[in-house]
Amino acid sequence: TAPHLLRNFCIIAHIDHGKSTLADRMLQLTGVVDSRAMRAQYLDRMDIERERGITIKSQAVRMPWGVTGDDGVESAYALNMIDTPGHVDFTYEVSRSLAACEGAVLLVDAAQGIEAQTLANLYLALENDLTIIPVLNKIDLPAAQPEKYAEELANLIGGDPEDCLRVSGKTGAGVVELLDRIVADIPAPTGDPTAPARAMIFDSVYDTYRGVVTYVRVVDGQLSPRERILMMSTRATHELLEIGVSAPEPTPTRGLGVGEVGYLITGVKDVRQSRVGDTVTNAHKPASDELGGYRDPKPMVFSGLYPIDGSDYPVLRDALDRLKLNDAALVYEPETSAALGFGFRCGFLGLLHLEIVRERLEREFTLDLISTAPNVVYDVTMEDGTEHVVTNPSEYPAGKIREVREPVVRATILTPNEFVGGIMELCQSRRGALQGMDYLSEDRVEMRYTLPLAEIVFDFFDQLKSKTRGYASLDYETTGDAPADLVKVDILLQGETVDAFSAIVHKDKAYSYGVMMAGKLKDLIPRQQFEVPIQAAVGSRIIARETVRAMRKDVLAKCYGGDISRKRKLLEKQKEGKKRMKTIGRVDVPQEAFIAALSSD
Ligand code: GTP
Repeated sequence: TAPHLLRNFCIIAHIDHGKSTLADRMLQLTGVVDSRAMRAQYLDRMDIERERGITIKSQAVRMPWGVTGDDGVESAYALNMIDTPGHVDFTYEVSRSLAACEGAVLLVDAAQGIEAQTLANLYLALENDLTIIPVLNKIDLPAAQPEKYAEELANLIGGDPEDCLRVSGKTGAGVVELLDRIVADIPAPTGDPTAPARAMIFDSVYDTYRGVVTYVRVVDGQLSPRERILMMSTRATHELLEIGVSAPEPTPTRGLGVGEVGYLITGVKDVRQSRVGDTVTNAHKPASDELGGYRDPKPMVFSGLYPIDGSDYPVLRDALDRLKLNDAALVYEPETSAALGFGFRCGFLGLLHLEIVRERLEREFTLDLISTAPNVVYDVTMEDGTEHVVTNPSEYPAGKIREVREPVVRATILTPNEFVGGIMELCQSRRGALQGMDYLSEDRVEMRYTLPLAEIVFDFFDQLKSKTRGYASLDYETTGDAPADLVKVDILLQGETVDAFSAIVHKDKAYSYGVMMAGKLKDLIPRQQFEVPIQAAVGSRIIARETVRAMRKDVLAKCYGGDISRKRKLLEKQKEGKKRMKTIGRVDVPQEAFIAALSSD
């Protein structure tokens, strides 16, 4: 398709504002998916995506759309819709998808108004110089207030409230007008067709049958089947086995030209060789400059993953290897814990990413897993100048520490103004610093904070939701790191450190963490034949202590008489129970106790 007949756009929205439903309606109205084949959220292919109703991996789809011009002649346009993931953990993927477009449909729920991710995505779109089409969705809802929120949107992006389209992804109202508006308002792509080929990778997924499928947007030149391509950041070359467009099923083409969006297949088996943000060029006639800066995905949150049944360790290792093929951001390395046995220390983009990986491991590989409390990465500088990067609290260096740095985020919270006080209290208790506050309309406030990532990683979002009856929304991005007054708290059973429970916490919170963990364990550890002290310590200083009293447990006492077979059975049973015990020093701890103590409440 000639560039002047192409329109590349994405839909950006806060979570649940109806992006996938609107995309479904567009697929139907443009005739690429007929009503019988239609299923809810056609583009979200992963089961887990459909179940949770969220989009994890972005996808692109091409739709034909005819528009009759002023001269009465109909032109056949091709609209490329690029679906973007909506969650903060995947901001980098969102920004690459946006860079592949000239315009964005800014979708806002007409019963909710602007939310934190609406803003975050809008700012990303503006940074990429996209044309914004403001749209209010769900106008069929009785609670919809399109007038009020059109005003809010117009205040935000400038322009007239009347320019906001009103649609319903559910009933289809206004969607034809929206498609026409996309053709009219969004600029056609421009590029140099005679220059060496340059295409940006905005997504890359692993397919069991076809290997890695790479989604690209061509900026200059032309990509054709069978030619050799070069990945500019890694300098790796591959042969192009197939090239095509998603319409929405993969359809091979004779090539992709300026402005076109499509997929490439090279037979590569690992998404790390075809990474989001990288530039593809022709190996024999390479371009001299990459498009935009490529950024390596950087894990921000770490957690230990252990199989509950130790014999599942090889299964877990293979499962991680398989997932990694489809997830360039996942990192892991083997780790051993005295309490939990063999497992892996894994790095994730954020908490949602962690949850998704864990759930996929459990579901797709039928594994029973325990994950240790998530922690962030710390940079520790010792008095003698040596530096340590700590991704596991139990590896926190001993000795004289000069400085510890932790990652910091810039958070945006949107809330009805009645909750401002509660949110300030919450952020203050999490070491947050207020950076600014703006009224979006009379009763809705945007609050900007800097906060340590470690304070968000635990239950910040849940707390925010409960303090605001679900009305506040949160978005954040990491902005760097800052020094902090942190200490490592160890938990000891009979004088032995239990590695899985060590945590790095702010000095002021060390005591409460110690008391909380010692208390929890006291209730979970069964009585032994001797007294078991449970202590929390910072270095050699004990900050909390509990005791599990001794008890003589004689299973045979109940067997009076001489029934030897019954006695044997009981002894066998006791041995069976022992197997699932981990021994810390001399103390037998059932694995359930670790699991219960590690799960947050
Ligand atoms: P993410 O992919 O998680 O970002 O969500 P999304 O923005 O794609 O939202 P989705 O399409 O999954 O819709 C969220 C909810 O809103 C679903 O329960 C939809 O059925 C509902 N919904 C979407 N559009 C409309 C609409 O126009 N009217 C009404 N009444 N409900 C809608």
